[in-house]
Amino acid sequence: MAKLIELQTISDDRGDLTVIEKILPFEIKRVYYIYNTNGKSRGNHKHKKNIQALICVNGSCKIKCHNEIFLLDNPKKCLILDPEDYHEMYDFNSQSVLLVLSSEYYDENDYIRHEN
Ligand code: TYD
Repeated sequence: MAKLIELQTISDDRGDLTVIEKILPFEIKRVYYIYNTNGKSRGNHKHKKNIQALICVNGSCKIKCHNEIFLLDNPKKCLILDPEDYHEMYDFNSQSVLLVLSSEYYDENDYIRHEN
């Protein structure tokens, strides 16, 4: 079940520092980031095993999952997607950088591209 969590952030007059430590329900095996999307939507799949944590570290985007829409518009917001969470990523702006932390190495056979 998709779950939005708030990441611990330490702020002072030098800026904000957001930490991801002992909060993810998996060990990170892979990191990738999505940007320069030209307003196109991405995703439209779920997984067999892969758990992911999504953070929009710059700009904003939306994630649609089971008819719920999550707005990622702050680098403190982290959306955890379980394997069964069929998701679409969209409404990126030109500044958007979506960071994804994954529990598994890339494996095309882990993808389920139709929602059923
Ligand atoms: P895909 O997962 O379909 O992108 P999205 O879910 O954002 O729409 O991946 C797009 C392409 O990138 C596809 O050819 C597979 C490749 N890819 C990798 O090689 N390694 C990776 O870790 C990921 C996520 C994708």
